[in-house]
Amino acid sequence: MSNYPSGIIFTEDNPGKWEGKATGHLPSVTVDGGKVTVKTDHVMTKAHFIVRHTIVSADGVMVGDKTFSPDDADAVSEFELPSDTSGKLYVTSFCNQHDLWLVEVEL
Ligand SMILES: [Fe+2]
Repeated sequence: MSNYPSGIIFTEDNPGKWEGKATGHLPSVTVDGGKVTVKTDHVMTKAHFIVRHTIVSADGVMVGDKTFSPDDADAVSEFELPSDTSGKLYVTSFCNQHDLWLVEVEL
């Protein structure tokens, strides 16, 4: 998937040092027409929370991002895709304790 060393980006297939943490850190992605909903099923406390979601298109354009506060009830974000978006989306979710998780979604 990438040429980066392991331990930078964590995925379902490569959870690295966070073995067993994929559930609760991998973002779940729902695409409905041009609307994308991203959810990370994770606690939101001051000590431990989801910091940010991003969506990057296959051509490397960040088409959406949301930064969370630990006061947010849920790590859920919604985005409208540009109409010319096609191919893969790369969706990330960053935990303040368990780093950066990535899923790929085919449109
Ligand atoms: Fe976490």
